[in-house]
Amino acid sequence: MGSLSQGNHTLGDEFTKDVISSMGPKTDPRLREVMSSFIKHVHDFAREVQLTTDEWMLGVQMINQAGQMSDAKRNEGQLLCDVIGLESLVDDITYQAAVKSAGSATASAILGPFWRHDTPIRENGTTISFNTPKDGQVAFLHGQVTCAETGKPLANATVEAWQASTNGLYEQQDDAQIEHNLRGKFVTDAQGHFSFYCLRPTPYPVPEDGPAGKLLRLMDRHVYRPAHIHLIAQAEGFKPITTQIFDSKSDYLDNDSVFAVKDGLTVVFEPRKNDPQAEWDLKYDLSLAPVSSN
Ligand code: BEZ
Ligand code: FE
Repeated sequence: MGSLSQGNHTLGDEFTKDVISSMGPKTDPRLREVMSSFIKHVHDFAREVQLTTDEWMLGVQMINQAGQMSDAKRNEGQLLCDVIGLESLVDDITYQAAVKSAGSATASAILGPFWRHDTPIRENGTTISFNTPKDGQVAFLHGQVTCAETGKPLANATVEAWQASTNGLYEQQDDAQIEHNLRGKFVTDAQGHFSFYCLRPTPYPVPEDGPAGKLLRLMDRHVYRPAHIHLIAQAEGFKPITTQIFDSKSDYLDNDSVFAVKDGLTVVFEPRKNDPQAEWDLKYDLSLAPVSSN
C-alpha cells in the first residue's frame, strides 16, 4: 500500500489504485467491477472539481437527510437520483440490454418512487378513480398487449396503472384519497385487451421538502413533471415493461424534472363520444419482448 503523504501534490492515480486493490479475494466479481469503477470516477471527480471538505460534508448531509426522511411511502434517495437523471439512465441501460432484438417492444420509462407492490386487481372496464376531484377529467384508457416478435395478442397479461390526482399527490401522500385510489391491475382477455377509466393526467411537482427539492433550487431548476400515467405490463414468458405515457398536450414535456420523457411514449387523448362516464378516450397498445429474444 502506498504512502498517503505526497508533500503538496494531490493524492493521484497510485492512491486510487491502492484503494481499489484493498478489496480482498472473496469480493464478488461484479461487485469488484462496479466498486473499482465507482472509486475511480469518484476520485477523479473530486480531483477535477478540487472538492473541499466543506462541500463534501454538504453532500454527506444531503445523503443522510435523504435516508432519514425515507420510509415505506417515501424514497428520497431515489428522488435525488431522479433529479440528476440517474434513474432514467439506468432504466435505459437495463431496457437496451433486455430488448436488443425485439425492436418493436414498448419503450420503458422510470418506475419512480410511488409504485406500490400491493395494487389490487380490478375488472376490465371499471375505474381506478374513486375520489374524482371537481377539476378532474375522466378518460377511458384501453388497448391490447401483443408479442413484439409475432404481433400475436397476449391473453392473461397484466397491465398495472397508477397516477397522481389533480392536486399532484399520489394516494399514499394524501389522506383525502382512499387507499389504492388511482391504482389498478387489469388482466387481458383472450384477445389481449384491457380497459379502465382513469383521470386525464395533469402535471405535478415532485416532492420539494427534502434534499432533492433543495438541490433543484440550488441548480435553479423547476420541480414539475409532465402529465403522465405509469404502466407496468407483464405476461408469462415475456420481459416485463415498466413505462409511463405522457399527454402530448402537457407542459414540461421538454424539461421533465426527472428526465423520463422518451420518443414513442407521448399519447393523444381524443374526445370520447357516447359515454357519460368519460370525456376523453385513449387507446394505447403495449408490446412485450419474449424472454427467449436476444
Ligand atoms: C413519478 O412519476 O411518480 C416520479 C418519478 C420520479 C420522481 C418523482 C416522482
Ligand atoms: Fe408519476
